Amino acid sequence: MPKTLIAGNWKMNGSLAANERLWLELAAGLAAGGTGAAQAALCVPAVYLEQMQALMAQSGVALGAQDVSAQASGAYTGEVSAAMLQDFGVQYVIVGHSERRQYHGETDAVVAAKARAALDAGIVPIVCVGETLEQREAGETASVVGGQLAAVLAVLGADAARAVVAYEPVWAIGTGRTASPEQAQEVHASLRAQLAEAGAQDVPLLYGGSMNAANAASLLAQPDVNGGLIGGASLKAADFLKIIASAQ
Ligand code: 13P
Repeated sequence: MPKTLIAGNWKMNGSLAANERLWLELAAGLAAGGTGAAQAALCVPAVYLEQMQALMAQSGVALGAQDVSAQASGAYTGEVSAAMLQDFGVQYVIVGHSERRQYHGETDAVVAAKARAALDAGIVPIVCVGETLEQREAGETASVVGGQLAAVLAVLGADAARAVVAYEPVWAIGTGRTASPEQAQEVHASLRAQLAEAGAQDVPLLYGGSMNAANAASLLAQPDVNGGLIGGASLKAADFLKIIASAQ
Protein backbone atom coordinates (compact mmCIF):
# COMPACT_ATOMS: atom_id res chain seq x y z
CA MET A 1 0.00 0.00 0.00
CA PRO A 2 1.40 3.44 -0.88
CA LYS A 3 2.21 5.76 2.00
CA THR A 4 -0.38 8.31 3.03
CA LEU A 5 0.66 11.67 1.57
CA ILE A 6 0.37 14.62 3.94
CA ALA A 7 1.17 17.77 1.98
CA GLY A 8 1.26 21.26 3.43
CA ASN A 9 0.28 24.16 1.20
CA TRP A 10 1.78 27.26 2.73
CA LYS A 11 0.01 29.48 0.16
CA MET A 12 1.39 33.05 0.17
CA ASN A 13 2.75 32.93 3.71
CA GLY A 14 6.19 32.90 5.25
CA SER A 15 9.47 34.75 5.38
CA LEU A 16 13.07 33.56 5.55
CA ALA A 17 12.97 33.81 9.34
CA ALA A 18 9.49 32.33 9.83
CA ASN A 19 10.18 29.43 7.46
CA GLU A 20 13.33 28.49 9.32
CA ARG A 21 11.54 28.63 12.67
CA LEU A 22 8.68 26.49 11.39
CA TRP A 23 11.04 23.99 9.80
CA LEU A 24 13.17 23.63 12.95
CA GLU A 25 10.06 22.85 14.96
CA LEU A 26 8.83 20.38 12.38
CA ALA A 27 12.23 18.72 12.11
CA ALA A 28 12.45 18.33 15.88
CA GLY A 29 9.00 16.75 15.97
CA LEU A 30 9.78 14.43 13.08
CA ALA A 31 13.07 13.40 14.66
CA ALA A 32 11.13 12.42 17.77
CA GLY A 33 8.08 10.82 16.16
CA GLY A 34 9.07 10.08 12.57
CA THR A 35 6.64 10.16 9.67
CA GLY A 36 5.65 6.51 10.08
CA ALA A 37 3.08 5.55 7.49
CA ALA A 38 3.05 9.03 5.99
CA GLN A 39 5.04 10.75 3.28
CA ALA A 40 5.17 14.42 4.24
CA ALA A 41 5.61 17.22 1.74
CA LEU A 42 5.74 21.01 1.95
CA CYS A 43 4.53 23.13 -0.98
CA VAL A 44 6.21 26.48 -0.43
CA PRO A 45 6.24 29.80 -2.29
CA ALA A 46 8.63 29.61 -5.28
CA VAL A 47 11.04 32.21 -3.88
CA TYR A 48 11.64 30.02 -0.84
CA LEU A 49 12.41 26.80 -2.71
CA GLU A 50 16.16 27.30 -2.44
CA GLN A 51 15.95 27.98 1.29
CA MET A 52 13.69 25.02 1.95
CA GLN A 53 15.67 22.67 -0.28
CA ALA A 54 18.73 23.40 1.86
CA LEU A 55 16.89 23.16 5.18
CA MET A 56 15.00 19.98 4.26
CA ALA A 57 17.93 18.13 2.67
CA GLN A 58 18.04 14.47 3.76
CA SER A 59 14.98 14.95 5.97
CA GLY A 60 12.74 12.61 3.97
CA VAL A 61 10.16 15.39 3.69
CA ALA A 62 9.48 16.16 0.04
CA LEU A 63 9.71 19.66 -1.40
CA GLY A 64 6.75 20.95 -3.37
CA ALA A 65 5.71 24.06 -5.28
CA GLN A 66 2.30 25.69 -5.56
CA ASP A 67 2.09 26.36 -9.29
CA VAL A 68 4.01 25.78 -12.52
CA SER A 69 3.91 27.25 -15.98
CA ALA A 70 2.39 25.18 -18.76
CA GLN A 71 5.16 26.53 -21.02
CA ALA A 72 8.68 25.13 -21.23
CA SER A 73 10.55 28.45 -21.51
CA GLY A 74 10.48 31.82 -23.23
CA ALA A 75 8.66 35.13 -23.06
CA TYR A 76 6.29 34.41 -20.16
CA THR A 77 7.06 37.14 -17.65
CA GLY A 78 6.61 36.09 -14.06
CA GLU A 79 6.21 32.40 -14.80
CA VAL A 80 8.26 29.54 -13.36
CA SER A 81 8.82 26.45 -15.51
CA ALA A 82 8.78 22.82 -14.44
CA ALA A 83 12.47 22.53 -15.33
CA MET A 84 13.22 25.44 -12.97
CA LEU A 85 11.33 23.68 -10.18
CA GLN A 86 13.25 20.52 -10.94
CA ASP A 87 16.50 22.48 -10.53
CA PHE A 88 15.56 22.95 -6.87
CA GLY A 89 14.66 19.33 -6.22
CA VAL A 90 10.90 19.84 -6.33
CA GLN A 91 9.02 16.52 -6.25
CA TYR A 92 5.41 17.74 -6.16
CA VAL A 93 3.58 20.72 -7.58
CA ILE A 94 0.00 21.78 -6.90
CA VAL A 95 -1.94 22.53 -10.08
CA GLY A 96 -5.46 23.85 -10.44
CA HIS A 97 -5.89 25.00 -6.86
CA SER A 98 -9.28 26.72 -6.59
CA GLU A 99 -7.54 29.97 -5.65
CA ARG A 100 -5.70 29.88 -9.00
CA ARG A 101 -8.87 28.96 -10.85
CA GLN A 102 -10.76 31.78 -9.11
CA TYR A 103 -8.21 34.62 -8.96
CA HIS A 104 -6.09 33.81 -12.00
CA GLY A 105 -8.73 32.53 -14.38
CA GLU A 106 -7.18 29.08 -14.77
CA THR A 107 -9.36 26.89 -16.95
CA ASP A 108 -9.51 23.10 -17.00
CA ALA A 109 -7.38 23.22 -20.16
CA VAL A 110 -4.68 25.31 -18.47
CA VAL A 111 -4.70 23.02 -15.43
CA ALA A 112 -4.32 19.97 -17.66
CA ALA A 113 -1.41 21.59 -19.56
CA LYS A 114 0.31 22.42 -16.26
CA ALA A 115 -0.09 18.82 -15.06
CA ARG A 116 1.43 17.64 -18.35
CA ALA A 117 4.38 20.05 -18.01
CA ALA A 118 5.05 18.83 -14.46
CA LEU A 119 5.00 15.15 -15.40
CA ASP A 120 7.27 15.79 -18.39
CA ALA A 121 9.83 17.20 -15.93
CA GLY A 122 9.45 14.24 -13.57
CA ILE A 123 7.44 16.22 -11.01
CA VAL A 124 4.22 14.78 -9.57
CA PRO A 125 1.29 17.16 -10.12
CA ILE A 126 -1.22 17.39 -7.28
CA VAL A 127 -4.30 18.13 -9.37
CA CYS A 128 -6.98 19.96 -7.38
CA VAL A 129 -10.68 19.62 -8.06
CA GLY A 130 -13.64 20.86 -6.05
CA GLU A 131 -17.09 22.38 -6.16
CA THR A 132 -18.38 25.67 -4.76
CA LEU A 133 -21.13 25.76 -2.13
CA GLU A 134 -23.59 26.92 -4.79
CA GLN A 135 -22.71 23.94 -6.99
CA ARG A 136 -22.99 21.50 -4.07
CA GLU A 137 -26.40 22.88 -3.12
CA ALA A 138 -27.53 22.55 -6.73
CA GLY A 139 -26.56 18.86 -6.67
CA GLU A 140 -23.73 19.44 -9.14
CA THR A 141 -20.79 18.16 -7.08
CA ALA A 142 -20.22 14.94 -9.02
CA SER A 143 -20.51 16.58 -12.43
CA VAL A 144 -18.26 19.53 -11.48
CA VAL A 145 -15.39 17.52 -10.00
CA GLY A 146 -15.87 14.80 -12.61
CA GLY A 147 -15.57 17.36 -15.38
CA GLN A 148 -12.47 18.95 -13.85
CA LEU A 149 -10.80 15.53 -13.57
CA ALA A 150 -11.90 14.41 -17.04
CA ALA A 151 -10.17 17.42 -18.62
CA VAL A 152 -6.88 16.40 -17.01
CA LEU A 153 -7.26 12.70 -17.77
CA ALA A 154 -7.88 13.48 -21.44
CA VAL A 155 -4.54 15.28 -21.69
CA LEU A 156 -2.45 12.98 -19.49
CA GLY A 157 -3.61 9.66 -20.92
CA ALA A 158 -1.72 6.73 -19.39
CA ASP A 159 0.56 9.13 -17.50
CA ALA A 160 -2.36 10.02 -15.22
CA ALA A 161 -1.26 7.02 -13.15
CA ARG A 162 1.74 9.09 -12.01
CA ALA A 163 -0.35 12.02 -10.72
CA VAL A 164 -1.99 12.77 -7.38
CA VAL A 165 -5.53 14.18 -7.17
CA ALA A 166 -6.78 16.39 -4.34
CA TYR A 167 -10.47 16.92 -3.64
CA GLU A 168 -10.81 20.37 -2.16
CA PRO A 169 -14.40 21.55 -1.80
CA VAL A 170 -14.17 25.33 -2.23
CA TRP A 171 -16.64 25.89 0.61
CA ALA A 172 -14.30 24.10 3.02
CA ILE A 173 -11.10 25.96 2.17
CA GLY A 174 -10.01 28.36 4.89
CA THR A 175 -13.54 28.45 6.29
CA GLY A 176 -13.17 26.09 9.23
CA ARG A 177 -16.00 24.13 7.65
CA THR A 178 -14.78 20.65 6.75
CA ALA A 179 -16.45 18.06 4.58
CA SER A 180 -17.64 15.26 6.82
CA PRO A 181 -15.71 12.01 6.40
CA GLU A 182 -18.79 10.60 4.62
CA GLN A 183 -19.04 13.58 2.25
CA ALA A 184 -15.35 13.29 1.42
CA GLN A 185 -15.56 9.52 0.92
CA GLU A 186 -18.56 9.85 -1.40
CA VAL A 187 -16.71 12.21 -3.73
CA HIS A 188 -13.46 10.27 -3.47
CA ALA A 189 -15.25 7.05 -4.41
CA SER A 190 -16.61 8.65 -7.55
CA LEU A 191 -13.18 10.08 -8.42
CA ARG A 192 -11.68 6.61 -7.83
CA ALA A 193 -14.17 5.03 -10.22
CA GLN A 194 -13.36 7.65 -12.85
CA LEU A 195 -9.62 7.10 -12.38
CA ALA A 196 -10.09 3.33 -12.61
CA GLU A 197 -11.83 3.72 -15.96
CA ALA A 198 -8.76 5.62 -17.14
CA GLY A 199 -6.45 2.87 -15.85
CA ALA A 200 -5.24 5.04 -12.97
CA GLN A 201 -7.05 3.45 -10.02
CA ASP A 202 -4.02 3.65 -7.73
CA VAL A 203 -3.65 7.45 -7.91
CA PRO A 204 -3.52 8.80 -4.34
CA LEU A 205 -6.61 10.88 -3.52
CA LEU A 206 -6.00 13.66 -1.00
CA TYR A 207 -8.66 15.60 0.86
CA GLY A 208 -8.17 19.32 1.45
CA GLY A 209 -10.29 21.99 3.13
CA SER A 210 -9.97 22.90 6.81
CA MET A 211 -8.24 19.62 7.61
CA ASN A 212 -6.74 19.97 11.07
CA ALA A 213 -5.28 18.07 13.99
CA ALA A 214 -8.76 17.28 15.34
CA ASN A 215 -10.48 16.01 12.20
CA ALA A 216 -7.60 14.45 10.23
CA ALA A 217 -7.83 10.95 11.68
CA SER A 218 -11.51 10.47 10.80
CA LEU A 219 -11.01 11.80 7.26
CA LEU A 220 -7.89 9.68 6.71
CA ALA A 221 -9.77 6.60 7.97
CA GLN A 222 -11.98 6.66 4.87
CA PRO A 223 -11.06 3.95 2.37
CA ASP A 224 -10.56 6.33 -0.56
CA VAL A 225 -8.87 9.14 1.36
CA ASN A 226 -5.14 8.56 0.87
CA GLY A 227 -3.83 11.75 2.39
CA GLY A 228 -4.40 15.42 2.94
CA LEU A 229 -3.59 18.80 1.42
CA ILE A 230 -3.39 21.15 4.34
CA GLY A 231 -3.41 24.94 4.27
CA GLY A 232 -3.69 26.85 7.54
CA ALA A 233 -2.80 23.95 9.83
CA SER A 234 0.45 23.35 7.92
CA LEU A 235 1.73 26.71 9.19
CA LYS A 236 1.63 25.49 12.79
CA ALA A 237 4.25 22.85 13.49
CA ALA A 238 2.36 21.16 16.32
CA ASP A 239 -0.82 20.86 14.24
CA PHE A 240 0.95 19.62 11.12
CA LEU A 241 2.86 17.04 13.19
CA LYS A 242 -0.42 15.81 14.69
CA ILE A 243 -1.90 15.41 11.22
CA ILE A 244 1.16 13.42 10.12
CA ALA A 245 0.81 11.28 13.24
CA SER A 246 -2.87 10.64 12.55
CA ALA A 247 -1.92 9.04 9.22
CA GLN A 248 -0.66 5.98 11.11
P1 13P B 1 -7.14 25.19 4.58
O1 13P B 1 -6.55 23.93 5.17
O2 13P B 1 -6.54 26.44 5.14
O3 13P B 1 -8.62 25.16 4.56
O4 13P B 1 -6.67 25.19 3.03
C1 13P B 1 -6.89 24.06 2.28
C2 13P B 1 -6.20 24.23 0.98
O5 13P B 1 -6.60 25.04 0.17
C3 13P B 1 -5.00 23.43 0.74
O6 13P B 1 -4.58 23.53 -0.58
